[in-house]
Amino acid sequence: MTIKHIFVIGAGTMGNGIAQVAATSGYQVTCMDVAPAALEKAKATIAKSTAKLVEKGTLTPEQKASADAIQFAENMDTMKDADLVIEAATENPELKFKIFKEMDERARANAILATNTSSISITKIAAVTKRPDKVIGMHFMNPVPLMKLVEVIRGLGTSDETTQTIVDVCKWMGKEPVEANDSPGFISNRILCPMINEAVFALQEGVGTPEAIDQVMKLGMNHPMGPLTLADLIGLDVVLFVMEVLQRDLGEDKYRPAYLLRKMVDAGHLGRKSGRGFYSY
Ligand SMILES: NC(=O)c1ccc[n+]([C@@H]2O[C@H](COP(=O)([O-])OP(=O)(O)OC[C@H]3O[C@@H](n4cnc5c(N)ncnc54)[C@H](O)[C@@H]3O)[C@@H](O)[C@H]2O)c1
Repeated sequence: MTIKHIFVIGAGTMGNGIAQVAATSGYQVTCMDVAPAALEKAKATIAKSTAKLVEKGTLTPEQKASADAIQFAENMDTMKDADLVIEAATENPELKFKIFKEMDERARANAILATNTSSISITKIAAVTKRPDKVIGMHFMNPVPLMKLVEVIRGLGTSDETTQTIVDVCKWMGKEPVEANDSPGFISNRILCPMINEAVFALQEGVGTPEAIDQVMKLGMNHPMGPLTLADLIGLDVVLFVMEVLQRDLGEDKYRPAYLLRKMVDAGHLGRKSGRGFYSY
């Protein structure tokens, strides 16, 4: 299937990055959000990011012009023209089910409906639509313009044709698609979040200071940043949410969130976005 027009839902951290990369790869792009402030912020972020990439020589002025041509919308009216809809709204199952019902009603019958969810079952999301064969996970990494990986997640009913089309779109965007089956946390968060959670257990039990824990993983394991620094970047609420999904859906105690992680989220210490997490910002 040929994809020409991509409609991105959600203009936040991930949505604006996805819209940017899709546009600079030559797709016609519409980026939609219910919050006008998010659309304004996305416009500014994309303008700044593409200007920087042109300066560095990794983007041509023509590619920047394509990003400048992204259409921003506060509703789903133009979704009917899209071949692919990528949902990157807030990580909340009820919200995603509601959005997917609406996507299914508004998008063309042959359009593919993708979600950037980090932890919600693709099969469950697909079940609220009448086209589970055309629903798929496209899990981009943050920051989208810089990170190579897209985890491509097949739900139970996702067709081979849909998967192949999405693999081709990812490659066209200059990304490296890696296929995973639908399972809690997929591959990325099944491995990453328990590692971060274990680092929080080590801190809570006094095995080391935050700096020591991060230094061991950076210098000893060649990780580009330590797990607690990474947790602050991702958001401690997001890490906690993923651990709760893993514990509930895989039913194993080894995924129980560290008490300190929960306490920090309760206190509003969410990491960089709140100015305080394991470190102060
Ligand atoms: N942040 C990350 O590092 C990361 C990485 C991979 C995947 N994800 C996933 O990407 C998705 C988006 O995460 P984010 O970090 O960009 O969140 P974010 O909070 O930065 O942005 C979410 C946006 O969705 C908008 N939104 C809420 N309801 C909407 C609706 N009904 N219609 C349209 N827009 C709506 C909000 O206004 C907000 O601008 C989530 O599913 C998340 O799990 C996030």
